[in-house]
Amino acid sequence: MADKITVPGLMKMKQQGEKITCLTAYDYSFARVLDEAGIDILLVGDSVGCVVQGQPNTLAVTMDEMIYHTRLVVRGRNRALVIGDMPFLSFQVSKTQAVQNAGRFLREAGAEAIKLEGGVPMRDTIDAIVSAGIPVMGHIGLTPQSVHRFGGYKIQGREKGQREIIVRDALAVQEAGAFAVVLEGMPTTLAKEITERLTIPTIGIGAGVHCDGQVLVIHDLLGLFDDFTPKFVKQYADMKKAMATAVKSFIGDVREQKFPGEEHSFK
Ligand code: KIV
Repeated sequence: MADKITVPGLMKMKQQGEKITCLTAYDYSFARVLDEAGIDILLVGDSVGCVVQGQPNTLAVTMDEMIYHTRLVVRGRNRALVIGDMPFLSFQVSKTQAVQNAGRFLREAGAEAIKLEGGVPMRDTIDAIVSAGIPVMGHIGLTPQSVHRFGGYKIQGREKGQREIIVRDALAVQEAGAFAVVLEGMPTTLAKEITERLTIPTIGIGAGVHCDGQVLVIHDLLGLFDDFTPKFVKQYADMKKAMATAVKSFIGDVREQKFPGEEHSFK
């Protein structure tokens, strides 16, 4: 078993040119599978709102729900670093509220770090949370909690002005003390420039191959969620089909009295 993943360990991975892997998880069973497979980071994302709760976006996810899911994931992990995602309005209202909510992920759920969306406007908030001893992962570019401001899930940073804003966001997040930053939904060249300029690791999602690591939503990777599939998703399995096949077999067996058999019954 490789060494436990830590915040300083991730920084070292960037320095050594070792790619960082990150997947979302929302419960014990998934966390165990991913951890045993060797994933570096388990992100308890607010994407739980879409892929678990069936909501159209992440905006309705609450702190209590995030704490609940993070607790389940922590129980299933052994080696990976667990990061809890700060939901909408849990950190934007005041720095005090942000520090208190970030602390809940560590104290009540056992996470080792938190993630929050936003660049320059979140600089002081990140600084306050880091000053409280809580490691922070930033998240810039196509930040899903700003879906209504963007007018949809649109790639960010294609125009020169927008590109400069995102570079400034990346630098602000690093200066505020974040240990890593998610780059979401931006051109490959922009993510490359940011990755080269930052000393902290960049974790890409829809940001091309040059990032220091990659993250995907586990339900997308496994083909379990098909309400919408962004271009950046690579589906590594068709678990929806595999599950439907298994369930249809069960239904058929019960109807034909093939299940339970002798081997599943008691004398
Ligand atoms: O909520 C989430 O799952 C995320 C990742 C996709 C980065 O923020």
